[in-house]
Amino acid sequence: MAANGMLTQRMSQAVSIVGAGRVGRALGRRLHELGWRVGGVTAQSMATARAAVRAIGEGHALDGLTHEILNSRFVLITAPDGAIEGVAEKLAQIGGKEWRGKVALHTSGALDFSVLRPLAELGAATGSMHPMQTFSNQNIPDLAQCIFGIDGCPTALKAARKMIHQMGGVAVRLSGANKAAYHAAGSFACVYVLVLIETATRLLMAQGFKRRQAMRALLPLARQTLNNFERIGPLAAWTGPLARGDFSTIERHVKALADLNPEYLAAYKPLARLTAEEFAAQPGAMLNQLDRIFGAATVSKKKK
Ligand SMILES: NC(=O)c1ccc[n+]([C@@H]2O[C@H](COP(=O)([O-])OP(=O)(O)OC[C@H]3O[C@@H](n4cnc5c(N)ncnc54)[C@H](OP(=O)(O)O)[C@@H]3O)[C@@H](O)[C@H]2O)c1
Repeated sequence: MAANGMLTQRMSQAVSIVGAGRVGRALGRRLHELGWRVGGVTAQSMATARAAVRAIGEGHALDGLTHEILNSRFVLITAPDGAIEGVAEKLAQIGGKEWRGKVALHTSGALDFSVLRPLAELGAATGSMHPMQTFSNQNIPDLAQCIFGIDGCPTALKAARKMIHQMGGVAVRLSGANKAAYHAAGSFACVYVLVLIETATRLLMAQGFKRRQAMRALLPLARQTLNNFERIGPLAAWTGPLARGDFSTIERHVKALADLNPEYLAAYKPLARLTAEEFAAQPGAMLNQLDRIFGAATVSKKKK
């Protein structure tokens, strides 16, 4: 490619990042590595914006939402869900008609692209690209094969697909999907898995295990379960007392948890019921058995 052509391509691949926290830094870093030019980088505080520029490896730390954000054709809004609408309104005020021809994408899983309407009304192509992945402050997850749920106008979809493809991810168009429900699925697979494994860890620690031992006991179990889910499917992966119809063991669990921590018992009951509903050949019969046990547990607790 001629030097001019390369320059034009590099200029056209400039991206500003608004809300450079966990996701903004990770995507910014990845896009920078792929040759995108990172322009304005902004957070609420200047210290965060500066730290983000260091983490990304390129960009100008901006003091809040300033006009410099519009120096890039692409604007990635990675602010928290609750801030996106306000950010879009402020960016619309700052940029006015300059938004025509720009592409604005947010990364929320629960909000669709309509939250960027103030920018769309000014002629920007608007959309969203949500990585179905968890981003912490400590590391950047592998985005290869990561599913990104996308929605938006055709130009924004095209831009999102290009970015995602370059990052090694897979774009899935969320046409007509309820994004909040789509995002709730991610919560079940991520944060609720996390809280369940932490609860299991604490249960073992309450029985004398050190945290490290508890993790060594539980992680292989959890990993094998996920491997089985992937390889042989949910029904074949289903083991444990409910799968065997062993209600006496469920009764023992209930008694032990009631004595140890009522919160754990309160979580255990709906999980057992959900297991029956999702997996049992005759959910009604299993639910009746469970409700008998749980009802008895409630009565005996009240008597105490
Ligand atoms: N974390 C995940 O695992 C994950 C995964 C997929 C999608 N997402 C989505 O990605 C988005 C960002 O999530 P995150 O976890 O990266 O959030 P985060 O780590 O809390 O980062 C949010 C960033 O936005 C900045 N910010 C907050 N309010 C702002 C405002 N009004 N204007 C400009 N910047 C503002 C914060 O700045 P200060 O630090 O200075 O306050 C911070 O840098 C959310 O929509 C989230 O749903 C998150």
